[in-house]
Amino acid sequence: MHNQTEPEAGQGRADVGTLGFIGCGTLTEAVVRAIRRNGGGPPILLSPRSESLSVRLAAELPGITRAASNADVIAGSQTVVLAMRPQQIDQALDGLRFSAGQTIVSFVAKLSIDELRRRVAPAREVCRVIPLTMIADGKGPIVVFPRVDAVARLFDGCGLVIEPETEEQVMAFGCASAVMSTYFQFQNTVVDWLEARGVDPAAASGYVASMLDGLAATGMANQGAARLALPELHETKGGLNEHCRRDLAASGWFAAITAALDALDRKVSLLPEAKSPDASRP
Ligand SMILES: NC(=O)c1ccc[n+]([C@@H]2O[C@H](COP(=O)([O-])OP(=O)(O)OC[C@H]3O[C@@H](n4cnc5c(N)ncnc54)[C@H](OP(=O)(O)O)[C@@H]3O)[C@@H](O)[C@H]2O)c1
Repeated sequence: MHNQTEPEAGQGRADVGTLGFIGCGTLTEAVVRAIRRNGGGPPILLSPRSESLSVRLAAELPGITRAASNADVIAGSQTVVLAMRPQQIDQALDGLRFSAGQTIVSFVAKLSIDELRRRVAPAREVCRVIPLTMIADGKGPIVVFPRVDAVARLFDGCGLVIEPETEEQVMAFGCASAVMSTYFQFQNTVVDWLEARGVDPAAASGYVASMLDGLAATGMANQGAARLALPELHETKGGLNEHCRRDLAASGWFAAITAALDALDRKVSLLPEAKSPDASRP
């Protein structure tokens, strides 16, 4: 069983101490905005890169300081987040010294716990975290492995914290996140279909986005065994939904999703650790 926690926002965030980020790009911005979303949260120290983003975040949000160097981030933080791309790690950590009592969090997709420990020694407490950019709106899954209490609590109220049982499952969750762009192509296909029938573009996209929004809420409210009944609960015997789903199943559409994820899983497992940009991008 995966542990899933969604407790109250803001609880226990101070436990991580000052939170430093090495790498201030797309994901750091989303996470920093999530942490500050409901006010509070720990003091945050940003690396000077990316320059424009770190300057903007420090000016816009309270309790955020832009450090002069990566070394200053490490020196000033109890918890340090590695938030650069895999191919940028060597340069970003070059010559830096961590201390034994620090906690190191890695966002880097294919950096194993063993390799992370090796790179940040003598720091002993390490964990991998995979948020998605929707965290900025307090939504989406946040994979945390292995559990570090203060880190898991940091994300309380920022989305759904998922704690996998094994490191292999961390990679599996990463692969599962690869359906995001497919989801939007699915959405756009339905919108395009409506537009091709003369529907006003705003009405077409509004109709589809609103329908999918409602379905997502139903999906959130019906997990575990309850999710199995959802297809049937959303179709009438012999009705439009049943026709559409059966046509797609007969064409191999659902099986193709499983096959694509299997192929991705094989591909990612063959890539060298923390080197490939392909494995690190959502
Ligand atoms: N984006 C996502 O949705 C997502 C989801 C899951 C996991 N991840 C993982 O999160 C990590 C960050 O992804 P991202 O999308 O935020 O990438 P990104 O936007 O490219 O950000 C990378 C950041 O690292 C900085 N950087 C590069 N070299 C540096 C150095 N020597 N010292 C300090 N900072 C340095 C870059 O600064 P410059 O602009 O100055 O080069 C940039 O701010 C990746 O490892 C990725 O695997 C991302």
